[in-house]
Amino acid sequence: MTGRAAVLTGLGGWLPPVRVTNDDLARRLDTSDEWITTRTGIRQRFVVPPGLSTSGVAVEAGARALASAGTERVDLLVLATSTPDHPCPATAPEVAGRLGLGEIAAFDVAAVCTGFVYALATASSMITAGVADSALVIGADTFSTILDPGDRTTRAIFGDGAGAVVLRAGDRGERGALLGFDLASDGSQAELITVPGGGSEHRSQGLADPGDEFFTMQGRSVFRHAVTRMSESSRRLAKDLDWPLESVDRLVAHQANIRILTAVGADLGLPEEKVVANLDRVGNTVAASIPLALTDGVHDGSLAAGHRVLLCGFGGGLTWGAAALELPHLSVEPLPTHA
Ligand code: UT7
Repeated sequence: MTGRAAVLTGLGGWLPPVRVTNDDLARRLDTSDEWITTRTGIRQRFVVPPGLSTSGVAVEAGARALASAGTERVDLLVLATSTPDHPCPATAPEVAGRLGLGEIAAFDVAAVCTGFVYALATASSMITAGVADSALVIGADTFSTILDPGDRTTRAIFGDGAGAVVLRAGDRGERGALLGFDLASDGSQAELITVPGGGSEHRSQGLADPGDEFFTMQGRSVFRHAVTRMSESSRRLAKDLDWPLESVDRLVAHQANIRILTAVGADLGLPEEKVVANLDRVGNTVAASIPLALTDGVHDGSLAAGHRVLLCGFGGGLTWGAAALELPHLSVEPLPTHA
């Protein structure tokens, strides 16, 4: 099939410099390396030091994606984040300015851990519609700045980081073309993942309870929804594209918990080697999760040109979604290790 489409041409990611191992957490909280590793698959995560925020990690990832694409110019920047530098304005214009991109269209998309898939769909649609000819799509979050320091469950899971891709207008028949999306939400389950305070609801009531500024998650329910919704979305998109599930070479799903990835892979009938996982090294990096897994996968060779890839995400909102493409050749810089 031919026709105008957004084509992936660049990829990059960045991790902030403070590495926190499971043993580091166990020195401060009632947890253990054994619990975190067996219940989540996560061994370490990276967090921002004081003074570094979401715009900073986004700029680093954006610069790497632009270099990977061999360009210094795009005419659209979409930033997926739910930890913006400020409640207002959006962080994307700041990032565009610091990347030297000039007076381009720039805005944030907030869909928590599904943010990258939503942002990719937004930028891809704007390119397909002719509103833009190229775009930088960044997923960046610094959840360490909104976690309750005493909450061992969320502290064990989340890490900070940013990942980005560059898209340009091309043809649907080209390798790297974004071939389809499946997006969905269920606001009746909003309370499962929420930061209760700090928004207009609480400000309009003039009261806030202590601790309301922290992120909260009902882990067990979220786990069940994540498996069902990511499987459902991937299956629906594959069917729309006439891709038999056995023809899918790699699944790059939101990196929240290795048990979730294993369950989604099993549900879709995909063997373990087709399910890309890097959460052991980076934790759950929210909107950065999918582009960071792509970056690691391309760098270590588990993702290669020609692979049929399904991306799928799930997060607060609740929101979930999937995207599909055949991977082009990409040259990526490895993620920093900060050993
Ligand atoms: O990114 C957006 C979407 N987020 C997700 O997809 C996350 C989905 N949820 C999960 O990954 C898992 O539910 C968690 C990793 C958050 C929790 O794992 P779980 O196996 O569901 O544990 P649980 O919440 O059922 O808790 C089991 C036990 C509890 O103790 P009791 O009540 O059995 O005595 C918890 O208090 O484990 C305890 N626990 C911990 N123990 C040691 C919870 N966190 C920890 C911890 N260290 N860090």
